[in-house]
Amino acid sequence: MKAKRLCVVGVGTLGEALIRGIRARWAELPIAGSVRRAESLERLAGCGAEITCDVAQAVAGCDVVVVAVKPQAMPVVLRKIRESLEPGVLVISVAAGVTTARIEAELGQVPVVRVMPNTPCVLGAGMSVLTPGAFAGPAHMELARSLFDAVGKTAVLEEGLMNAVTGLSGSGPAYVYLVIESLAEAGVKVGIPRATSTLLAAQTVLGAARMVLELGEHPALLKDAVTTPAGCTVDGLMELEEGGLRVTLLKAVVRATERARELDPS
Ligand SMILES: NC(=O)c1ccc[n+]([C@@H]2O[C@H](COP(=O)([O-])OP(=O)(O)OC[C@H]3O[C@@H](n4cnc5c(N)ncnc54)[C@H](OP(=O)(O)O)[C@@H]3O)[C@@H](O)[C@H]2O)c1
Repeated sequence: MKAKRLCVVGVGTLGEALIRGIRARWAELPIAGSVRRAESLERLAGCGAEITCDVAQAVAGCDVVVVAVKPQAMPVVLRKIRESLEPGVLVISVAAGVTTARIEAELGQVPVVRVMPNTPCVLGAGMSVLTPGAFAGPAHMELARSLFDAVGKTAVLEEGLMNAVTGLSGSGPAYVYLVIESLAEAGVKVGIPRATSTLLAAQTVLGAARMVLELGEHPALLKDAVTTPAGCTVDGLMELEEGGLRVTLLKAVVRATERARELDPS
């Protein structure tokens, strides 16, 4: 199954990243988009889609509609597009905390796929987790997944885990920025110029992540391979264990998951 005409309702940070990624992969796919304010049209000139402020016009004739407005704008936007959706259109929502059941309650028996992406989508290095609504079948999931594969990696999980996904990969970039910032600060402490220190820290995180993803090895084995007996790394690791890094990260994900659950009105 392939999209014939795509619409992105809400071309902000995420919507624009998605359009650019999809355009880079499918040069010929017609893409429409809609924004709320006329000022936004100028910013989006040349983004690879036909952007309008008329949401009904944007969704007309599309077989896939991605809704990428803020969660609080979802009810009004869903009501606006309801009348203009073609029968059988696939609706994909990226709105945090908005369940497929709530979307189906507004739109009726339409196939809905809910997605939780993260900010590195902007660079094509995102992590998006998809979950199907009651009327979305395997072909809808495959189509939705192919679109988000254009801006990073994808996984499929049951909807009950979406708050956990928010706590790990949704909030995760912030945790890693803190790690990079701290490593860079440490580099300065031991005499490395700040700009170089930040480069060393960030590239080290990127390289380590690629080792895990591309070699498919367990992170513990990769760590062991760097740790020479009586060497330097083991001393560094001992400090991290004493400082409770492991349990602190674990608690951060658990706490962010609980907060996502508290904010989830479903
Ligand atoms: N940013 C992320 O990395 C990220 C990650 C995970 C999930 N999300 C989800 O993605 C959604 C969008 O987030 P964002 O950060 O991209 O927000 P954003 O930058 O504020 O973009 C929202 C867009 O929606 C448009 N909009 C608002 N009301 C509208 C309406 N009535 N009709 C048509 N367009 C309308 C806005 O138009 P104007 O430009 O004219 O104001 C803007 O372009 C949110 O639901 C968020 O939970 C985002």
